[in-house]
Amino acid sequence: MSTTEPRGLFLTFEGLDGSGKTTQMHLLAERLRHAGRRVLVTVEPGGTAIGAKIRSILLDRSHAGLTPEAELLLYFASRAQNIDEVILPALARGEIVLSDRFADSTLVYQGFGRGLGEEAVRAVERVACRGLKPHLTVYLEIDLETALERARARNQAAGGRETRMDEQSAEFYRRVAEGYRILIGREPERFRVIDGRRTPEKVAEDVWHAVAPVVGADSD
Ligand SMILES: Nc1ncnc2c1ncn2[C@@H]1O[C@H](COP(=O)(O)OP(=O)(O)OP(=O)(O)O)[C@@H](O)[C@H]1O
Ligand SMILES: [Mg+2]
Repeated sequence: MSTTEPRGLFLTFEGLDGSGKTTQMHLLAERLRHAGRRVLVTVEPGGTAIGAKIRSILLDRSHAGLTPEAELLLYFASRAQNIDEVILPALARGEIVLSDRFADSTLVYQGFGRGLGEEAVRAVERVACRGLKPHLTVYLEIDLETALERARARNQAAGGRETRMDEQSAEFYRRVAEGYRILIGREPERFRVIDGRRTPEKVAEDVWHAVAPVVGADSD
């Protein structure tokens, strides 16, 4: 890697709602820190003060009228801010950056799920992300029913504040899952597909074995 490139590593977590991304990202962060690594965790949408405001617009259940195009631009607005304010500086410091969702999510949810098409999403991605791509992406694979069940339980526990996603149709989630399969098929070297239906501890073991060689840690 040349000295002008960021020295850190950028790892993302992808998967359907409720697949365990947030749980696994925090378990991995803990384990990496335990191994002596400097880790920064960030969440999408959000990650910055401006991003948090954008997140609240996106997830507000009274915003059913938000158009797919407006939604697409809001996700990338949050991401562009997060890249400059948080992600690139951390990578430049040589840290491991873990992101709970990134551009793949927008491709599958807005591009495939909402039907905006991949080209439209890629065009905005070029402006917002300026070529930043994850070095490795953990994809937590789970069936649709389990995903929705977990997301609902989690949202109820959170007081029903972030429920817009619950209200999407099963057909929408089928398109999202299919979108993920297409992306994984194209970039099998970047994606690590992990069965997310087992216990969090078992899933975490697989995540560690997938990530440890990439970060230069002992995988045992
Ligand atoms: N392996 C697992 N087995 C059973 N339950 C799990 C597992 N992993 C996470 N959960 C539970 O399922 C719910 C969803 O998990 P989590 O929030 O980590 O998923 P997520 O992918 O981040 O979801 P979202 O996309 O909605 O943010 C939580 O209540 C969590 O405690
Ligand atoms: Mg989550």
